[in-house]
Amino acid sequence: MSTPLAITGSDQSGEPQAQRTARAFVAALHGAVRAVRLYPIENSAVLRGIAELGNAAERVALADGQCRLRRIGDYLFVNETRLRLTLDNYAAVAHVLGLLREAGLGGVDVVAPTIARAWVVLIAFLQSPPLDSPEEERLEQLSERVALAGITCFEFYPPVDASDLEETELDAKERARQTYVRSLDVTREVMTSARLGRNAGLKRVKRAVQGIVDAILTDAASLIGLTTLREFDEYTFVHSVNVSILSVALGRRLGLTKPQMLDLGLAALLHDIGKSRIPLDLLNKRGSLDDGERAILQTHTWQGVLTLFAMPTGSARPWRAMTTAYEHHMRIDFTGYPKAYRSRRLSLYSNIIAVADGFDAATTTRVYQDVPWSPADVLRGMRDNKRLGLDPVVVKAFINLTGIYPVGTLVVLDSFALAMVVAVNPDPTAMSRPLVRMITDDQGNRLQDLHVYDLTACDPSGQFEYTVIRTEDPQRYGINISDYFA
Ligand SMILES: [Fe+2]
Ligand SMILES: [Fe+2]
Repeated sequence: MSTPLAITGSDQSGEPQAQRTARAFVAALHGAVRAVRLYPIENSAVLRGIAELGNAAERVALADGQCRLRRIGDYLFVNETRLRLTLDNYAAVAHVLGLLREAGLGGVDVVAPTIARAWVVLIAFLQSPPLDSPEEERLEQLSERVALAGITCFEFYPPVDASDLEETELDAKERARQTYVRSLDVTREVMTSARLGRNAGLKRVKRAVQGIVDAILTDAASLIGLTTLREFDEYTFVHSVNVSILSVALGRRLGLTKPQMLDLGLAALLHDIGKSRIPLDLLNKRGSLDDGERAILQTHTWQGVLTLFAMPTGSARPWRAMTTAYEHHMRIDFTGYPKAYRSRRLSLYSNIIAVADGFDAATTTRVYQDVPWSPADVLRGMRDNKRLGLDPVVVKAFINLTGIYPVGTLVVLDSFALAMVVAVNPDPTAMSRPLVRMITDDQGNRLQDLHVYDLTACDPSGQFEYTVIRTEDPQRYGINISDYFA
């Protein structure tokens, strides 16, 4: 089956009009659901969100003659337009996909002008679908609920099998984003169900990790580039996916086989699963924690083992994941937690995950850290600060993997231009000469330059054209890192 795009025109950025209206509709749905989750219905943010959603649906209908939202496998369609994932909409797309899946819905048609109450009823259902009933019955329950409320503007559809959807024209970057979104979605599902005391199986998680391993083997740079994504209120999920990607890439460097990489990726994705047993207000607490709170947070290691034990995994228990969930904060000198009462050797996987974990956590802005460290500073700390208790061999491999200036680092060149590191140099001997995108010219004027410069390039006299002289804090310059990876 082919999937023609209903292109009705393009704007100057080259993005088809249909893509933009589709994207606005999905973003409005995502926004309205979040507003309903956070505030009471009568709150102005909710009312605004719902009004915006109604308008966005109307604009889609106006452009295409209908407004139809469909989920086919891991893709979202608005009418005939498959939503392209970009860095600023991946969270919305993953969220909406997850909502439809949980509700047992393949899609919804908006067949008549909507009123706010109709959207509220639909969103209320999407937010807390009757998870106790089998998936096939949820759609029926939704239809009943909507009919009871006298709402006639929606028609609902059951899920469609994705097997006949052709994997066409996906470029490497978009495939990487797809892999990322799928992993994020699965992690959210597995951790949210663990929090609710329901145990999702590991089948989908394994499939997602398979995607990560395949992407690392074919196009590591695209996927590693995505780990610079920072989504504040999705921190635990984004962090888990990032740690999994970085661990698999590191495992590959260290010569692991593909089955080992799969095992490692799974363990890394689930390393913080025990956090699903920590109260959310503690997990999201701003400011520093007192001793008691820290002690509770630290239980996420052994609670992770218990969570994994409770999962219905058939005969193949994820033993490695249990070990790494337990060990990833122990440190090689055992000054971390949980305390080791007997002599033991940390598994290689735990050492790998500890390095990826430390790097991702330290480079992310999050609850207890308003300004993240620059990736280059973090690397230096990991290498030189023995108290972090990281395995020096693994750290060395990690620096080899990311370069001295990891992706997402803002650097100042010897011309005094600012540049963003977008990829490690493919030449392993050129660790200090990454590929960069210029952000300003030599005078500090902002550029719209999409060209990627290889810092190993020389001028006619054989001198390097540009050399990094130091790193800078992107926030100081008001630079949003992920803008450079879209
Ligand atoms: Fe942890
Ligand atoms: Fe972690």
